[in-house]
Amino acid sequence: MKLDVAFTPDAFGKKIENAANVAVIDVLRASSSIITAFGHGATSVIPAVSKDEALAIGRTRDRNKILFCGEKNGLRIPGFDLGNSPGEYTREVVGGKILIFVSTNGSKMMVKAVRGKRSLLIAGFLNLSAASARIARSGKDCLLVCSGREGLYSLEDTVCAGMMAMEISRIFPEAVALSDEALSALVLYRHFADDLAGMAGNSLHGRYLSGLGLKKDIPLCVTPNRFDIVPLFKKGALRPD
Ligand code: MLT
Repeated sequence: MKLDVAFTPDAFGKKIENAANVAVIDVLRASSSIITAFGHGATSVIPAVSKDEALAIGRTRDRNKILFCGEKNGLRIPGFDLGNSPGEYTREVVGGKILIFVSTNGSKMMVKAVRGKRSLLIAGFLNLSAASARIARSGKDCLLVCSGREGLYSLEDTVCAGMMAMEISRIFPEAVALSDEALSALVLYRHFADDLAGMAGNSLHGRYLSGLGLKKDIPLCVTPNRFDIVPLFKKGALRPD
């Protein structure tokens, strides 16, 4: 199996035609909030590209069963039930609920992937081993998509992709062919492996979140394997594997 990494949304656009299987990574914070939500009992997550699309989706559902979740420029969208801090996604709040989810970058990558009828899973540090094992077990080529920030490169997403490349290669050392991007991400992960929180805290988006008073989110997004859940896109929504 070939394992490739798209460092930016533009790279995803260039690689998407050859990508039947996609894993979207958005460490700060979309992947982390979605994984945490499933870890705390959410039934499904519907990604949307905008507040308007989210509200339109919500109008087709029982308001008592849904939560509007997400951020714009890092802060909770006015009128939404939750922002994008994983700490908001407690069992008491999200258990049994359908989440309609919008974020600046991550949800757009998710929607882009599924519009092309590709298989989509959500990965981050929080479910790294489970997501890596599922990709390895599939034996199919996979593109790890770094959501980035406003179309640009994201250090934390790339380091996460590198940790996944190392984990997948460890599971099937003979069967995995890493692209130059995947190998580069792996080397980058090895450089930061001993201090993921420091890496994420010093990244552009990590510093931006800290500036918003959201520094507490960072450790909640970079602790490896807090959950053994892999969100998969099935029947129009993300659902726990
Ligand atoms: C993103 O979509 O890039 C992130 O989720 C933004 C954020 O939560 O700050």
